[in-house]
Amino acid sequence: MSEKTYKTPQVEFVISAPDLSFCPDLGGRPEFALVGRSNVGKSSFINKLTRRKRIAHTSNTPGKTRLLNYYLVDDSWALVDLPGYGFAKIPKKEQERWRKALEEYLSQRETLVGVLQLVDARHGPQKNDIEMNRWLLENGVPAAVVVTKLDKAKKSTHGKILAETKRALSAEWGYFTFSSETGVGAEALWSAFAKWRNSVAT
Ligand code: GTP
Ligand code: MG
Repeated sequence: MSEKTYKTPQVEFVISAPDLSFCPDLGGRPEFALVGRSNVGKSSFINKLTRRKRIAHTSNTPGKTRLLNYYLVDDSWALVDLPGYGFAKIPKKEQERWRKALEEYLSQRETLVGVLQLVDARHGPQKNDIEMNRWLLENGVPAAVVVTKLDKAKKSTHGKILAETKRALSAEWGYFTFSSETGVGAEALWSAFAKWRNSVAT
């Protein structure tokens, strides 16, 4: 299916929040957060899905996203771009602070419907991906797992990577493949977001 089949949404940057206490009041609108290792492509995911060139800031240098960045979509739901984990060059103390801020946000944000955990198609799930995945499960945060940068992995390896990902990571909402370069998988994810939103609509 072509990525052009859904209508290009309206997207509005709302705020960069340092932690939960700064998260905006969006009138109860549902939100979804992007989690994953630094540089896996979380910000690129938001740009591609919403067909914006650079509403979310991306970079070759890991550790680009340092705050919880809110993007309001079609004035009705939000995508939240989170700082990545596992970037060794960030001082331990700062990594620890981010981890605490993330855990607090993920476990306490009332309007958070679920998360998308991104993993790199070239590497498959890493130790810290598995740890994050367990934490989500233990804390009752629904998750979808998205294998991204699919364009960077040889076609012949896609099946194996997906099988490995399914073995290592649990995903209440299922597994998806994606590429911010080609847009493959965007349509399926767009439909999935509608389904997940409906599942919590009152
Ligand atoms: P942090 O903010 O540091 O946690 O990183 P991030 O997960 O937001 O990654 P970001 O979207 O900034 O992407 C990191 C780099 O990977 C950038 O150079 C992107 O252009 C590139 N990238 C992201 N997704 C894809 C993809 O699907 N395919 C290819 N080829 N490159 C990608
Ligand atoms: Mg980012």
